[in-house]
Amino acid sequence: MAVVATEMDLPEVDVFGLDRQAMVAAFAEAAERHWLVRTPLGYAVTRYQDVNAVLRDRRFHSAISLIPEMAGVQRPIGGRRQASILAMEGEEHSRLRRLASPAFTPRATEKLRPFMRQVIGDLVDGVAASGSCELVADVCEPYPIPVICELLGAPKSDWKLFSAWAVDIFRIFNNDVANDLPAIEAAMADLDTYVEAMIEDRRQSPADDLLSRLIAVEEEGDRMSTSELVMMTEAVLMAGTDTTRNQLACSVALLAGAPRQWEALADDPALAAPAVEECLRHLGAVRATARFASVDVEYRDVVFPQGSLVMVSLAAANHDPDVWDDPGRFDITRSPEGQPQMTFGSGIHFCLGASLARAELQEALPILARRMRGLRVDGEIEWKPPTVGIWGPSRLPLTFEPAE
Ligand code: HEM
Repeated sequence: MAVVATEMDLPEVDVFGLDRQAMVAAFAEAAERHWLVRTPLGYAVTRYQDVNAVLRDRRFHSAISLIPEMAGVQRPIGGRRQASILAMEGEEHSRLRRLASPAFTPRATEKLRPFMRQVIGDLVDGVAASGSCELVADVCEPYPIPVICELLGAPKSDWKLFSAWAVDIFRIFNNDVANDLPAIEAAMADLDTYVEAMIEDRRQSPADDLLSRLIAVEEEGDRMSTSELVMMTEAVLMAGTDTTRNQLACSVALLAGAPRQWEALADDPALAAPAVEECLRHLGAVRATARFASVDVEYRDVVFPQGSLVMVSLAAANHDPDVWDDPGRFDITRSPEGQPQMTFGSGIHFCLGASLARAELQEALPILARRMRGLRVDGEIEWKPPTVGIWGPSRLPLTFEPAE
């Protein structure tokens, strides 16, 4: 007999104010009592199996579309514009995903690897001789924008512009949309104008870049409209910069506390891929996403009334003891145990840039390990507040052996 979620006696976790580690611990404790958790915003699923199932259940829709309303903004952010792929559902989403996916080719990712090595190498050049740096500002923040610009086909002279737009548009995820709205909308308008001009240019003279590929994709006579192309470009900028920079900082923070693994990574390039997976699993920069029930949803004998909000804890799923042996142990030689880590999500919204993000991290970490031998945290790591959507260190002061 199915029971309505609102009437159930469920473990409660006050997700606000808990840092990542405390939240994973609170969810693990709650999971011993029930697979479903009540939170001040709705419910939460925390076990791998349920996280995967909810993300794959098409009756649960992405809660991204609810952000403006939850922030008290009674109109679409940025005016009447094309909805983001992250907020789309159903046939509308499938169509766009079908049209966009072929443009994210493995060849395009592979082609960017030498460029990634060059960008990270240049950034390390700036600090190597001194034997110390603040990794977030010196390396992590500047790293992804050139890569995304190179992917899209935007010139080096415009990296700074893209960086500033990304910072402002990202304020959407910082739980203060009402105050940040003018900055967010100004950045969106400038980016729209820039990308529209770029699309016009690529239509006339296609190049070997993502935008030209997105323009060229055609399926049974169907193509992306200009506003859809603008939206996809913005989605890539939004989804592909803060995520990668925070994930890089999270990964180095972890490895700085595991000197033998840092050394092993420096000496054995084959460890790069498993190290990246273990960093994503152990300390993912995207800790959670959210869904809402688009209709009354019955799942595992529980009815979620239409509109119920469900937090999907990727961090807790990544520490599910039913899936990983001793999940609290950080071990870059851990062989994949059947199930992939969850930090890129699952189901129809699974990260479209996962292979690019993996390549960025796989290229950056071994270079940092080789050129920052004897790595130590210099004082304390400062972490972003737990309320921040895409999370990681805000300051990561490091010392290492200076280059000769
Ligand atoms: C370590 C870095 C990254 C992490 C942890 C990450 C994580 C995620 C997650 C969890 C989702 C799904 C969200 C949900 O289901 O609600 C997602 C979606 C997405 N990501 Fe990433 N991402 C990363 C890097 C990138 C990069 C580099 C790009 C672009 C080149 C990108 C593009 C996208 C896009 C376009 C979507 C939306 C897909 C859809 O809705 O169909 N991401 N990402």
